[in-house]
Amino acid sequence: MDAIECIMTRRSVRSFKPDMPEKEKLNTVIEAARYAPSGMSRQTWHFVVITNKDWLARMNERVYGIVNPASKDANLERNGAKGYSCNYHSPVFIVVSADPAYGTSGDDCACALENMFLAAHAVGLGSCWINQLGKENCEKLRDLLTEAGVPEKDMVYGCCALGYPDAAPSPRKERSDSVIYY
Ligand SMILES: Cc1cc2nc3c(=O)[nH]c(=O)nc-3n(C[C@H](O)[C@H](O)[C@H](O)COP(=O)(O)O)c2cc1C
Repeated sequence: MDAIECIMTRRSVRSFKPDMPEKEKLNTVIEAARYAPSGMSRQTWHFVVITNKDWLARMNERVYGIVNPASKDANLERNGAKGYSCNYHSPVFIVVSADPAYGTSGDDCACALENMFLAAHAVGLGSCWINQLGKENCEKLRDLLTEAGVPEKDMVYGCCALGYPDAAPSPRKERSDSVIYY
């Protein structure tokens, strides 16, 4: 797939098959993250790749207890009978974190996440940005994050739900052209 086609056709995927992606595909996605641009090329980010079902279940139980009711309802509606899962039951969940002491940590992590989404799409996987572990929730989930290997000083800037898509995504929201000025 050519780069422009990849950018134009990528979608957020919110329904996954339980099948684990092949190691080679997973490595491609993680490598794409490492090759993202970062402020002064400091690469302060960390990528914790989680496939452990028990950890994911415990994480979701805790997240369910701290997210607001509207977010819970929207998630349950999307997950159907499968029940609450902030990562939509994806078999792979990648936590992207960095030390907030660096001014560009959040920007760097966002670049890495987008690289992952595009690489995933290029190799036939689906992905979605998952925000429920970030900001104030990060503190509340610190023990779980430490257990998974997220460095103590780090803040979670975003996570990537990853796996094989199980359903076609809903129609795309129209892109506004009034955001461009020449
Ligand atoms: C900073 C950021 C946070 C997001 N957080 C979530 C999230 O927590 N859960 C979710 O399902 N989608 C999340 N998304 C995905 C957006 O909803 C999605 O990108 C948007 O609806 C456009 O759809 P598309 O990605 O298919 O083009 C997030 C996207 C961004 C950039």
